[in-house]
Amino acid sequence: MSETVDRPRRYLVRTFGCQMNEHDSERIAGQFEAEGMVPAHDEDDADVIVLNTCCIRENADNRLYGTLGHLKPRKDADPDLQIVVSGCLAQKDRDLVRERAPYVDVVMGTHNVHRAADLVERARREGPLTEILDAAVADDATTFPSALPPRRDQQHAAWVTIQVGCDNSCAFCIVPAVRGAEISRPFLALVDEVRRLADDGVTEVTLLGQNVNSYGRDLTLAERRAGGDGPVRPLFADLLRAAGAVDGIRRVRFTSPHPKDLRPETIAAMAEVPEVCNHLHLPLQSGSDRVLAAMHRGYTAERYLDRLRRARAEIDDLAVTTDIIVGFPGETDDDFARTLEVAAEARYDSAYTFIYSPRPGTEAATMTDVEVPADVIAERFERLRVVVERTAVERHAARVGRVEEVTVEGPSRKDPSVLTGRTSQNKLVHFASERPLRVGTYVTVAVTGAASHHLRGDLMDVVAPARHRTRIPVASA
Ligand code: SAH
Ligand code: SF4
Ligand code: F3S
Repeated sequence: MSETVDRPRRYLVRTFGCQMNEHDSERIAGQFEAEGMVPAHDEDDADVIVLNTCCIRENADNRLYGTLGHLKPRKDADPDLQIVVSGCLAQKDRDLVRERAPYVDVVMGTHNVHRAADLVERARREGPLTEILDAAVADDATTFPSALPPRRDQQHAAWVTIQVGCDNSCAFCIVPAVRGAEISRPFLALVDEVRRLADDGVTEVTLLGQNVNSYGRDLTLAERRAGGDGPVRPLFADLLRAAGAVDGIRRVRFTSPHPKDLRPETIAAMAEVPEVCNHLHLPLQSGSDRVLAAMHRGYTAERYLDRLRRARAEIDDLAVTTDIIVGFPGETDDDFARTLEVAAEARYDSAYTFIYSPRPGTEAATMTDVEVPADVIAERFERLRVVVERTAVERHAARVGRVEEVTVEGPSRKDPSVLTGRTSQNKLVHFASERPLRVGTYVTVAVTGAASHHLRGDLMDVVAPARHRTRIPVASA
């Protein structure tokens, strides 16, 4: 029998977006593997290529169309190759994807990730197709990414989607338009899932949602009670406590909490549950009250700083990171000066800083009369980078001399003789190890050096071995 008839089909999923998008990619890969497909080594070797897209900023759009252009010669040469465009940009652009790249086989949205394998198979038999649903189907397995068996890249760490969509209306943001309304997953289903993951050897879970602090608000009483003895009105804090209490779970992370909904209960759970990591990602967006109001963020700079102060006072050794947008329409020099002040006062460990990008369909995209000129934005962006870098370096330098518990994540990309891992504060640590250490092993590292984005150190002891089984590679030919 010839190899082409016999060998399993190979897939490649490229992720362009955030953790939710990455988690969706894992679910797509999980379905393909359930159908007997195997991962491809690279694009040239793949029979199915999925581009799981993002549209949060304009360059995310451009990246997709650039990649599609680059794939066209391969598709022309090999009509059996299937190209799938999924994710947020597919949801937003719909027919435009096919107009710009008619050779795409499947266009699918954010609400039908669970159908990826079926759609690929159908397109193989029937030809190109598009399936975009306008809202989530109210069924646990389809709405919530984690409810289907995903193919995880990391075996010791897993994402758990606790809510999908977003009910806020930040003026700059496309997410509610492409991910729909906020839907929380029932409490006990989530706890069960964390237990299943722990049984599988997972020791670290990251709870995912666009606004994790509002978790549970939309759950009906029946859902709240579903399955028995869970809390009647679960809060995000209850989820943190329940996840931390699962046997085998050593670390619980989460992203993102909206500052307006950061409740004292969440801070208390972070402070009291040792498994909950000492890291808070609290997106500021702007330090100017005028701009925050125009963005509809629901807090002032002072309220933000006040919540941060409380979190720092209660949670021992807390690292704080943020997202900031530069050049929101109408942002003046004074507004931006406030952003610099608040960023300096917040003393971030790191910050994702973004140049404002108008997204058609959002409120801010209509504010064209007050656009900030590109050269002004570029100059502000650089000034903000300097302020953030200053506190990041200071806060990293303050770790030198400490002993940190680190989860091994694998060899460093630049130097394979060096291992990288992460601390509870989510800081990357590079350290040498004479013995091989499995990914997912917990070790202690004495921190000897610091840069703005990572720490360096010396390995001390192994605290806990990795618990997961090593995946046995599937023969691909
Ligand atoms: N739900 C999260 C944010 C998800 S989007 C939250 O509210 O915290 C991640 C980040 O992208 C946002 O925090 C924001 O800083 C940035 N972002 C979103 N839309 C943007 C736009 N139109 N231009 C530039 N940055 C944007
Ligand atoms: Fe976007 Fe705001 Fe929702 Fe975050 S909270 S996803 S920024 S609308
Ligand atoms: Fe995430 Fe991008 Fe969609 S940030 S939710 S993949 S628009």
